[in-house]
Amino acid sequence: MSKAFTIFGGTGDLTFRKLLPALYNGSVSGAESLDYEIVVIGRRDYTAEQYRELARDWVRQFARLPYSDSAFARFAARIDYYRMDFTDPTAYAGLENYFRTRGIDEFIFYFAVAPRFFGVIAESLAGISNAPNGKVILEKPFGETLEDAKALNKRLEAIFTPERIYRIDHYLGKEMVRNIETIRFSNPIFTNLWDARFIESVQISAFEDVGVESRGGYYDHAGAMKDMVQNHLFQILSIVAMERPSEYIGSDMHTEQLKVLHALRPVGQDPIQDTLVLGQYEGYRQEKLVDPQSQTETYAAMRLFIDNDRWRGAPFYIRTGKKLGAREMNVVVTYRRPRPDVAHNVLVIRIQPTEGVYLQFNIQKPGDTTEITQAKMDFCQSCSLENRINTPEAYERLIGACIRGERFWFSRWDQIETGWQYVEQLRQAYQKAGLPMHSYADGTSGPQAAEDLLARFGHSWFREG
Ligand code: BG6
Repeated sequence: MSKAFTIFGGTGDLTFRKLLPALYNGSVSGAESLDYEIVVIGRRDYTAEQYRELARDWVRQFARLPYSDSAFARFAARIDYYRMDFTDPTAYAGLENYFRTRGIDEFIFYFAVAPRFFGVIAESLAGISNAPNGKVILEKPFGETLEDAKALNKRLEAIFTPERIYRIDHYLGKEMVRNIETIRFSNPIFTNLWDARFIESVQISAFEDVGVESRGGYYDHAGAMKDMVQNHLFQILSIVAMERPSEYIGSDMHTEQLKVLHALRPVGQDPIQDTLVLGQYEGYRQEKLVDPQSQTETYAAMRLFIDNDRWRGAPFYIRTGKKLGAREMNVVVTYRRPRPDVAHNVLVIRIQPTEGVYLQFNIQKPGDTTEITQAKMDFCQSCSLENRINTPEAYERLIGACIRGERFWFSRWDQIETGWQYVEQLRQAYQKAGLPMHSYADGTSGPQAAEDLLARFGHSWFREG
């Protein structure tokens, strides 16, 4: 009997740009995914051969590991294309027959489709022998509204038990996001100085240079708060702030992360103008499939507090946006100063594009002086070619983790629900207070109001000097 990694949405962007290159990398590096046949499901009329030729170009362009005809031939031999309308429940008898004739009885299903199709696919798979014992990988968004997402979740969990559902947050597959735990918990110099007594503030920034590109239709309903904050940034925030999970892996980590989200200061306790700034890049409303009157934010900056013993009094500043002139993400931990005449110690965890850790501290200026200056230690993990080659991409890592059943690499539903509720409350409070959607120009670091937000509290966004 054999195993299949089945992709619904086989002719979509995600499959071409991320999944096939990730599976190809796995094939070259000898990862677990090699045991799986790759069954790609789409509505378009391709033969397997035509599909493999299409896949070749995408793999050549996007795979991390070098392309070669022979490596691709070995990979492509495992790919089959199965044409069907996956929204039609009657079409699944044919799919069952297809699996049966190939002796496939162990499954991973990847739903690389819009969330409105999740329910019908899951319910139709329920009739295929052994399919509900397989695993399902879901891509966000998990619905358009929280209510939507909850209803959908119920439908899915009626077919696949919760431990079979793997909700991808691709940030959890990034090298330095995983590394945050190691940096925090394996170094006494950080472990023992990781709370508001020593740390003045934490900043998490995720800048993108691109706009919404071809995803205006989706993005205009999501906005930065749901597209980036509720998932990726809250994952990182909660890893930075959580207590050490006792087992270090699995649901224990999710539980610790969830406690952080529950400890976020309730919306409404602080004035919303001291909490949130929303912005939209100039020209956004002219983007394809975007409402010309759109009030959707492409930028968000926040001043949040985690009201627990560890973090009481240290703000978490978070910001993300599109068209900010660079693609850059980092976590900046600023330590309190012993005296006002010395600079802050700063630890920067660089998540992308450079991966590494940067530490700034005070030393005496060289020479016969008592003046103080800042020393900078910069460890660049991704600067070595060897490291780059050996570092799997997020999707590659997550597919492997799903095969191995490592659930801690994925989001748990209650984390999503809690984060989602929180960002919706923030968004509603902003609207209710009649606060403006600030406009900002392409290539800037966002609206001035985000600078002012921190300045009002004597802080500023970190810039490497
Ligand atoms: C996705 C968002 O989850 O993450 C996109 O939907 C965003 O809008 C992307 O561009 C950013 O991912 P990365 O890996 O390029 O930082």
